[in-house]
Formats: sequence, C-alpha cells, structure tokens
Amino acid sequence: MKFDILTLFPELFRQVLSESIIGRAQENGLIQINPVNIRDFSKDKHRKVDDYPYGGGSGMVMMSQPIYDAYLSLTENLDYKPKLIYMSPQGRLLDQKLVEELKNEEHLILLCGHYEGIDERIIEDIVDMEVSIGDYVLTGGELPAMVLIDSVSRLVPGVLSGEESYSEESHYNGLLEYPQYTRPFEFNRKKVPDILVSGHHANIQKWRRQQSIKRTYFKRPDMIEGNKELEAELKKVLESEKL
Ligand code: ADE
Repeated sequence: MKFDILTLFPELFRQVLSESIIGRAQENGLIQINPVNIRDFSKDKHRKVDDYPYGGGSGMVMMSQPIYDAYLSLTENLDYKPKLIYMSPQGRLLDQKLVEELKNEEHLILLCGHYEGIDERIIEDIVDMEVSIGDYVLTGGELPAMVLIDSVSRLVPGVLSGEESYSEESHYNGLLEYPQYTRPFEFNRKKVPDILVSGHHANIQKWRRQQSIKRTYFKRPDMIEGNKELEAELKKVLESEKL
C-alpha cells in the first residue's frame, strides 16, 4: 500500500515513521510512505506557499497553485485516481470502521494543511474525503496524517506478525480488550487471576470475553448501548457475578 503525503514538513514523517513496526513494514516493502514538500512546487522566488485571506481576517491561507502542482506531479502518469484525503477538523471522524475501509485502498494521498486552512477551490477540485482525528484543533495536519498511516498500515497483511495480534484487541470486534498479564505471577502483592494459569483454554476464552464486555460497559458504555446482543450478554455477565 502506498501513502503519498503533501506537506510543508516532510522530515517529520521520515523521523517518526522510520521506527518500529511501521519502519520495518517499509523496509519489507509492505507499505511505501512518500512525503512530498509542497514548498518545492512554489513558483514564488521566496518559495512562498501562503497568502492573506480575501475578505480580511487573521492568519494566512495556503495557496492552491503549489498544492495543485504537487498533486499533479504524483498523479499525472497514473491511469487511476488515488483517493485524496485532506486532514481537517471538519472531516469524518477517524474510527476503527473508517480505518478498516481505508486499508482496502491501494494508494492514498494525504494532504496536510497549515495556517488558517487551504484555498477552498483545492478542496472542491481534488479532495475526495476530509478526515479528522478528533474534535480538537491541531497546528497542522501532519500528526493526524501519521495517526491515519499508523492505524491503517498495521492492518496491511504481514505488517503485524499474525492476525491474532489485532483480532483480539480493542475496537476490532466492537469491544475493548480484556486485561493482559505477564510475568512475574505476583507483583505488588497482586497475583495473576487463577483462571489464566489453569491451562483450560475454553474457560480462559470465556473469562476474557466476559472481561471485555464488562470493561466496555464501565469504560465506554456508548459502545454497548443499543446493541441488543451485547446488552443481553452483559446482563448475563453481571448476573453471574452477583451469584
Ligand atoms: N488539522 C488540525 N486539526 C485536525 C484534526 N483534529 N484532525 C485532522 N486534521 C487536523
């Protein structure tokens, strides 16, 4: 899978995404991350990429021409149109469902804005989708783009060591993950739950499912509310605990 990024800060991506799992996925050719500096496409002698907003107001607006030319440099020889995502607090909220949808794309272009925003005509002409990582405002789209790349890349086959690595984790199946323990068996006078050392696989699976449901109910009740099957399962778990 390929990610092109249109940004004023290409070095940020090289620094952050060259480490750990995402770094290894790039070395293994499973994903390609290609930051492109919008400033390289400025026609201004001072490499200017922003200007004052028409109508007045504070801040600067990113001009369309450098962004458009950077975009053309990536797409003019392609016989398909990669999906272009503009990272913006006005966009669709990034959740695991959207991450799952995006992992099916072969090629994404991520556009990172700065200043007060970008010229609206760029959004109209080349942007397919706007994505936000939460209801708060950051200084630019770079951190959100990295969040998107990380969350999508780890679902690309081969990036994590096995399917089980994510099929059990929080949000994958609409629930939060059960508690995990590792050695030592006793820490700060707290022991690992007996069931986990019982060797009884079916009981362990059942216990983990119950824990998942319980913690989702306590930490994120909104993930259960309205889901009849989960509500029924939760009721059973809570009742069994009262016995
Ligand atoms: N750019 C600035 N804030 C953002 C946010 N919350 N999500 C995506 N892009 C942004």
